[in-house]
Amino acid sequence: MSGKRTASHLAATLTAIIAFLVWADPCTLSAQQPAAAAVPIAPTLLVAVDQRTAQSLNGDWHYIVDPYDNGISGGRNDYSLDEELRAGSNKLLEYDFAKSPTIKVPGDWNTQKESLLYYEGGFWYERHFQYQPQARHRTFLHIGAANYRSRVWMNGQLLCTHEGGFTQFDCEATKAVKVGENSVVIFVDSTRIADGVPTLNTDWWNYGGLTRDISLVTVPQSFIDDFELHLDRATRSRIEGYMHVEGAQAGTRVSVDLPEAKLHADGVTDVAGRVAINLSAQGLTLWSPDSPKLYRVVMKAGDDTLTDEMGFRTIETSGSRILLNGRPIVLHGICIHSEAPYRTGRVNNDQDVTTLLGWVKDLGANFVRLAHYPHDQRMTRLADKMGILVWSEVPVYWAVEFDREDVYTKSQQQLHEEIRRDRDKASVILWSIANETPNNPTRTAFLTRSAAFVHQEDPTRLVTAALLVRGDLKTKYIDDPLGNALDVIGFNEYVGWYEGTPESVDTVEWKVAYDKPLINSEFGGEAKAGLHGTVDQRWTEEYQAELYRHQIGMLNKIPQLRGVTPWILMDFRSPVRNLPGIQDGYNRKGLVSDQGQKKAAYFILQKAYKENGLGQAE
Ligand code: GCU
Repeated sequence: MSGKRTASHLAATLTAIIAFLVWADPCTLSAQQPAAAAVPIAPTLLVAVDQRTAQSLNGDWHYIVDPYDNGISGGRNDYSLDEELRAGSNKLLEYDFAKSPTIKVPGDWNTQKESLLYYEGGFWYERHFQYQPQARHRTFLHIGAANYRSRVWMNGQLLCTHEGGFTQFDCEATKAVKVGENSVVIFVDSTRIADGVPTLNTDWWNYGGLTRDISLVTVPQSFIDDFELHLDRATRSRIEGYMHVEGAQAGTRVSVDLPEAKLHADGVTDVAGRVAINLSAQGLTLWSPDSPKLYRVVMKAGDDTLTDEMGFRTIETSGSRILLNGRPIVLHGICIHSEAPYRTGRVNNDQDVTTLLGWVKDLGANFVRLAHYPHDQRMTRLADKMGILVWSEVPVYWAVEFDREDVYTKSQQQLHEEIRRDRDKASVILWSIANETPNNPTRTAFLTRSAAFVHQEDPTRLVTAALLVRGDLKTKYIDDPLGNALDVIGFNEYVGWYEGTPESVDTVEWKVAYDKPLINSEFGGEAKAGLHGTVDQRWTEEYQAELYRHQIGMLNKIPQLRGVTPWILMDFRSPVRNLPGIQDGYNRKGLVSDQGQKKAAYFILQKAYKENGLGQAE
């Protein structure tokens, strides 16, 4: 016994040591796996993946819940090897995916199994798939999102790792994929970490898992891995941008066509595989909420063809005005969490987004703030089609560790991945770099860098953030120094809920330190759908509706208010909301309950939007 115990004790110690290393440095681990070369962290990032032919790997995946990271030991129980016991073998294996239960992908694990509702930790996914790799082609495993840290193996080979729960990543599988039967194993750890983005505390539930589509994408050896096309702001008469062709010889011919508009441009790549694109926008219908016109864009480079559905519009500021296609606009919006209506859990299918954006349209809104992280791409694709303008945000939320360079790197990576995915969406007009962060010099320096990074990555859109305001019930000040780095100032306030009463809203005076467009990015109060009483009784629909009446009155007194996104469209799951019989684990500030019941305040806001009675374009 003792001999064996020492062996397993040794294995356990090894487990702990390696588990510590696991998330620290992939190269260390790859050293354990002699076959695989040093593993970069998701270098290639495909674009317009949903427009490419791909083999979907959505469906039922086997799973193993692994709170002790047992399977990542590299020892006897190395789950990444996906070993199957051969008949008659007496090998000691303490896992078997084939006999393990299954769970749906895409989907958070929490709302699929009652026992997993509040589970945070390590979780293994495994499935097999048939595949016919094509000669002279590259194969990527595309992961729409995996919350929070993930490691990906194919046929026992480590392909890549990723950190960040709301952005896509692509793992090169060209060398690992084989003809016929293949195994893919993904370890996802949803543990919240202090140096994470987001950090430990959030007012939303930390749904874990492979929450968005997974597919295998095959592309020619040299392929279009990036492009950017936009309408020039100065004249709105030219489409400008570039294409990048990965693995292309210099001089590779490329072309861009908008067949419907009979617009064409071509060129050749330079030594870096890049080519500038510049074509006339003659006769183009510009994209706007009233006419969300999308064009099929066909891009060719060598053997590769990539198409996309894109709208063309300009967005800019002029003093305190926001100009869409050169004309002042007012943004009638609402905040949304990526919480699925009725079934709850992460949004991951067309029905979810159709329901949510359907309510947005019914409200008479032309704008949504997708809080507090990049949402499923279905949301921005449908916003493009429905003519709904979008504020997209990365989860630099509350007190992330602003004094750490590695935390800055994580936030920048998420911005990069978010922009890379959605800069082809005309609906997306604002990149938000943060929400309700503490006003101190370290944070302001961190976020001023983020704003500069976003302006460099995408000079065609506007940068914003949701700022806290200071002051009392008499005077509120919007003078956070971060405002200097922003194009549009978002501000959150909860007068009438966290402070004062709905009536006290009427006497608040606003002092604004910036001649920039203002968006009220959050106000609101909670109500349990169906709970009725007097306007001064908290948690009732009457109280919430009364609060909206007073807020609308107050906000209309702010001359440079160019938009509003009240908190929030639908009730959502939050672990910090536990009032029995009312909240029961949900934040009830929704205008609609999670079961689709519209509360009285919904109709107050709808009336204001339909009568164009909130905020002014200039
Ligand atoms: C905050 C925060 C939200 C939160 C809301 C609330 O301002 O940005 O994430 O849910 O207020 O308190 O309901």
